[in-house]
Amino acid sequence: MTEKPIISLRNVTKTFKNGAITALQNVSFDVREGEFLSLVGPSGCGKTTLLRVINGLIDIDAGDVLSLGRTPEPGPDLAMVFQSARLLPWLTVSGNIEFVLELRGMGRSERKERAIALLGAVGLRDFADAYAHELSGGMQQRIGLARALAVEPKVLLMDEPFAALDAMTREVLRRELYEMWSRRKMTIVFVTHDIDEAILLSQTIVLLKPRPGRVDGIVSIDLPEPRFAVDPRTYPQFAQYRSHIWQRIQDMAREGTKLEELAGAFPKDDL
Ligand SMILES: Nc1ncnc2c1ncn2[C@@H]1O[C@H](COP(=O)(O)OP(=O)(O)OP(=O)(O)O)[C@@H](O)[C@H]1O
Ligand SMILES: [Mg+2]
Repeated sequence: MTEKPIISLRNVTKTFKNGAITALQNVSFDVREGEFLSLVGPSGCGKTTLLRVINGLIDIDAGDVLSLGRTPEPGPDLAMVFQSARLLPWLTVSGNIEFVLELRGMGRSERKERAIALLGAVGLRDFADAYAHELSGGMQQRIGLARALAVEPKVLLMDEPFAALDAMTREVLRRELYEMWSRRKMTIVFVTHDIDEAILLSQTIVLLKPRPGRVDGIVSIDLPEPRFAVDPRTYPQFAQYRSHIWQRIQDMAREGTKLEELAGAFPKDDL
């Protein structure tokens, strides 16, 4: 991993409703090339807005943002993965991936071959001819990931991609994603409500607080690699990161973030 930032935000402010809502206020951080960075914070702190700023879907009111060294614009270099896979139900699994390759002008036989290879990478080669609605939520999310990877993006932006899945599937997909990231050396900006998930996967966590959305702190995560050789939760550092981040969340509650906002945002067992 190089130290070069691939995404850089300086004092980014974004308001909605003619300034009535400040979604982001003076947000500054860098994402280095090849980094796995997570955005963590309670509901409404501007996580999704930040992803949309980074991929150029929305303009900012003030500050500077560079993605891939230029003013952000949506395109194949910045792929987005959402909470639900958003597949096209009338196309087969393979068709959903071939579709984005066709948009990029790839010929029929090449796109078929590439789609099958991508499905192999996410463990769904045997389901190429099934329809999306015939698959479980976890399988659909895998296809969403394969589709995002199909365009070989430099940056993968992921908005709570595992939030709607059951705990077991989530755990499996986390490991798969981490391994894929380690192999491909791409840059990932990952949004999650789940502190453990952020620590498990990230090299850097940007902790955000709401109303207005601001950076509360940036935490560097250093855990032994390969990270999933054992359950990373068993490392003593894991518990230290966890309690450090929890302390910050409790401080947010003391500063006036409503308990129900925090409760909605984080697993109830933790509050
Ligand atoms: N298009 C929009 N129009 C008006 N307000 C918006 C719009 N998008 C976001 N907001 C507001 O900006 C703030 C940040 O929203 P955002 O969706 O980025 O939060 P979030 O951290 O992703 O929340 P969640 O965890 O619930 O997904 C919220 O107050 C939200 O209501
Ligand atoms: Mg969101």
